[in-house]
Amino acid sequence: MKPGDALMQHYLQFKDLRAEEYAYLFERTRIIKTRFKNYEKYQPLVDRTLAMIFEKASTRTRVSFEAGMYQMGGSVVHLTTGDSQLGRAEPVEDSARVISRMVDIVMIRTFEQAKLEGFAGHSRVPVINGLTNEYHPCQILADVFTFIEQRGDIKGRVVAWVGDGNNMANTWLQAADILGFTLHVSTPTGYELDPVVAGVTNTRCVKVFDHPMDACRGAHLVTTDVWTSMGYEAENEERRKAFIDWCVDADMMAAARPDALFMHCLPAHRGEEVAAEVIDGPQSVVWDEAENRMHVQKALMEYLLLGRIG
Ligand code: CP
Ligand code: NVA
Repeated sequence: MKPGDALMQHYLQFKDLRAEEYAYLFERTRIIKTRFKNYEKYQPLVDRTLAMIFEKASTRTRVSFEAGMYQMGGSVVHLTTGDSQLGRAEPVEDSARVISRMVDIVMIRTFEQAKLEGFAGHSRVPVINGLTNEYHPCQILADVFTFIEQRGDIKGRVVAWVGDGNNMANTWLQAADILGFTLHVSTPTGYELDPVVAGVTNTRCVKVFDHPMDACRGAHLVTTDVWTSMGYEAENEERRKAFIDWCVDADMMAAARPDALFMHCLPAHRGEEVAAEVIDGPQSVVWDEAENRMHVQKALMEYLLLGRIG
């Protein structure tokens, strides 16, 4: 693929794909996951290479992309800031020009979204956001797929976000706008979700609540995330004080619908943003969510590299 190639598509934010494309991806995910569970070989990406660039730590993103690419017949190159010239201030544009001449697709986890976009703007191959300060689209892809697997269509449902107005919250808001569900949001003062950062002007898909319990009322899904995201560690102490009442506990789950699910992108801190009895309880689907990262990303890479199958 070359810059300007009409077929080339990046996945930098959730809003980069349309509802109809998500419907296709979720169906492909279902098929790819079923094949995996049945030990059926499916290797459409033989001779294709994925470069993964990590400027922040990861367990799930690394394992899910790496295992997924190998399962599809391809190979993987793993780079970090510390072991590449990225850590010695080689411009991201130059890194993009070089790396994208040698591989077929790139996944990047970094700090500012602008850096990811700078890379994508000079890449010959599709670029996937593996988490930035602003967004985490692959995680919400997995979360929505997990909801659909367990409860059917997410359209018209209520998702409660309890906690920081962070990269996960921004991405949930984009998903609510595109997929037609309502996001209930409760954050401490000073940590609000910013619709400008999320890039969502549709105010009908979001309702803001002062108290987390109120956000959970009637929700089909309750979800949260760490109080301090990667890159914000210097704020840890003040965040611990500000977020003390934003812990998803059994009372909050009881305010949600009786069949409500609990999700967390992980890693989690029991006793901080979520009570152990919730994350380890019967409504929690966090392990399915983590596993589904791999299945949705296989469908995503297939789509970005091969287009629609069949
Ligand atoms: N949820 C998620 O992205 O996990 P990692 O930070 O372990 O990749
Ligand atoms: N909001 C968290 C998500 C980790 C997967 C962070 O950015 O650190």
